[in-house]
Amino acid sequence: MAMIAARCPQYEVTVVDIDADRIRAWQTDNLPIYEPGLLELLRSARGRNLFFSTDIEEAIDDAEIIFVSVNTPTKTFGEGAGKAADLQYWEKTARTILDASRANKIFDSMEKPAFVFDGRNLLDHEALYRIGFSVFPIGKPPLKQF
Ligand SMILES: NC(=O)c1ccc[n+]([C@@H]2O[C@H](COP(=O)([O-])OP(=O)(O)OC[C@H]3O[C@@H](n4cnc5c(N)ncnc54)[C@H](O)[C@@H]3O)[C@@H](O)[C@H]2O)c1
Repeated sequence: MAMIAARCPQYEVTVVDIDADRIRAWQTDNLPIYEPGLLELLRSARGRNLFFSTDIEEAIDDAEIIFVSVNTPTKTFGEGAGKAADLQYWEKTARTILDASRANKIFDSMEKPAFVFDGRNLLDHEALYRIGFSVFPIGKPPLKQF
């Protein structure tokens, strides 16, 4: 998101997280993760068109495009334990988006309400279609045709 903000100053990017400590840290020079050049990139956009917040519902409602990048740890129980991704955080986020978005914005005004690019082909595409997402497997044919 820092790269998008740095390269596209005409767009406003808001990063939200449920973890307030992380959101605080992103606004300092003591970042929660290390990547070479990341701090310099952030400094070029922070406060200009890159903002950080814990007000997730407000940011969802304001947004025209939403990128979801929440934890997807390996499942520790159930089908696919030890191999498949645990999508509980992703599913919770999808539901929050559904709840926090004004219906006339997400369903009426936009030709395609939301997109999911499924790099691992692990998501439940049928369930996502049902709640209004368009799902695109990356690098593979769709698992199912609807
Ligand atoms: N880190 C990498 O190099 C990398 C590379 C490729 C893909 N990915 C994928 O990107 C995704 C995120 O990875 P990461 O390493 O950034 O994970 P991370 O655990 O560092 O960060 C995920 C963040 O999501 C937040 N979060 C969880 N639930 C939330 C919710 N409901 N609303 C708002 N925020 C919420 C957490 O508080 C956390 O700060 C994963 O699917 C991972 O597989 C990561």
